[in-house]
Amino acid sequence: MNFLLCFRTFAHKFYYKFRNMRTIIRNIKGLAGVETDKRAIAVCGKDMDNLNIINDAYLICNNGKFECFGRMTELDKEQNFDFDFDADNGYVLPSFCDSHTHLVYKGSREIEYIDKIKGLSYEEIAKRGGGILNSAERLRSASEQELFEDAYVRIEEIKCLGTGAVEIKSGYGLNTESELKMLRVIRRLKEECDIVIKANFLAAHAFPLEYKGNPNGYVDLIVNEMLPRVADEGLADYVDVFCDRGFFTTEQTERILLEALQYNLIPKIHANELDFSGGVETGVKYNALSVDHLEYIGERQIEVLKASQTMPTILPGAAFFLNMKLSPAREMINAGLPIAMASDFNPGSSPSGNMQLILSFACINYKLTPFEAINATTLNTAYAMGISNTHGTIAAGKVANFYITKKIPSIEYMPYYYGSNKIKEIFINGIKH
Ligand code: NIG
Ligand code: FE
Repeated sequence: MNFLLCFRTFAHKFYYKFRNMRTIIRNIKGLAGVETDKRAIAVCGKDMDNLNIINDAYLICNNGKFECFGRMTELDKEQNFDFDFDADNGYVLPSFCDSHTHLVYKGSREIEYIDKIKGLSYEEIAKRGGGILNSAERLRSASEQELFEDAYVRIEEIKCLGTGAVEIKSGYGLNTESELKMLRVIRRLKEECDIVIKANFLAAHAFPLEYKGNPNGYVDLIVNEMLPRVADEGLADYVDVFCDRGFFTTEQTERILLEALQYNLIPKIHANELDFSGGVETGVKYNALSVDHLEYIGERQIEVLKASQTMPTILPGAAFFLNMKLSPAREMINAGLPIAMASDFNPGSSPSGNMQLILSFACINYKLTPFEAINATTLNTAYAMGISNTHGTIAAGKVANFYITKKIPSIEYMPYYYGSNKIKEIFINGIKH
């Protein structure tokens, strides 16, 4: 394992040194998610059902970025390339951006899964010391190296399934030392992985046992001790709070978000998963980049979101795995809102980072069209990570992260043929993986 990691790191550095190469992908059946002169930072409402596709296309990458694309019949034949690939009539799509994960963790929680099958709810399991607290106990006793190695393997797995950028949260440490440990693991992943990673500080994920009966004491610890250290070491891009029934109140959330503002940490928060918690309103009040989960959304929340720059993000894997009521995605899109969909990859509520599966859930459970689902998992999740100027579509100058599908009959086949891997090749920074 260590040897593999050393080799990967070396190969990665080598790649970067020599990535100033021009690569062409020929014979693409359909090049999807392309943008030319008109660029969007996100797509809303009716526009979510637009996906630009060039049939019978080529794609050229240079120096890790997209250079140009067009129809095969219009390709200037007098050009030199360092690498020449034949897509063999596969489709090409921009890599998924997974804007919500908890993929640094130790151990699995399939025992709780059995409890769930037998009828216990997520909240009941949490009250018994299971759930997030179970993962916290394991994480605290794991070394930084172990956590790094496990997470590295998960990142390699999701890359092969089509993910080209990922947000990762802390939140299984729940004390200063272990939250910092998690964030340092994420920092090392940023250094050693070839995809963009954003770090989100989520100490306000659950109340640790030490603070049972003194929830505000834990909020004090986050505000007075953790936040300054996280900021001092520059360990986080964003701040998160699980603002929901039985977890953090809106008052506690506001205290954390206000303090985080002093350190220029933008919120991305867990909201309205278990109830009309006020999480959406609180997130919007503090200009959250995204509010995530959103099972409990009514007209009022839709109006609040419409007047904001906050990306409503649904996590279909968690709703599926916990068998929860579904977020009203269709109503939100019909009201003109954008929707993003991410995996929520974590050991408790969504032990999968497979964004191809999220595409299928988007269509089957939430009644998104395949094009809406693709936009929800690429450009809109890129927005929810603050990277939609460089990721999420295929456009000249953007980072060349994309995949080539196996021979499939149509783009719609991607969500339709659920549960199996439709990807043949992945490219990260213009380089075949
Ligand atoms: O996004 N909802 C809160 N947190 C996670 C679950 C984490 C866990 O159960 O370990 C989520 O679903
Ligand atoms: Fe989550």
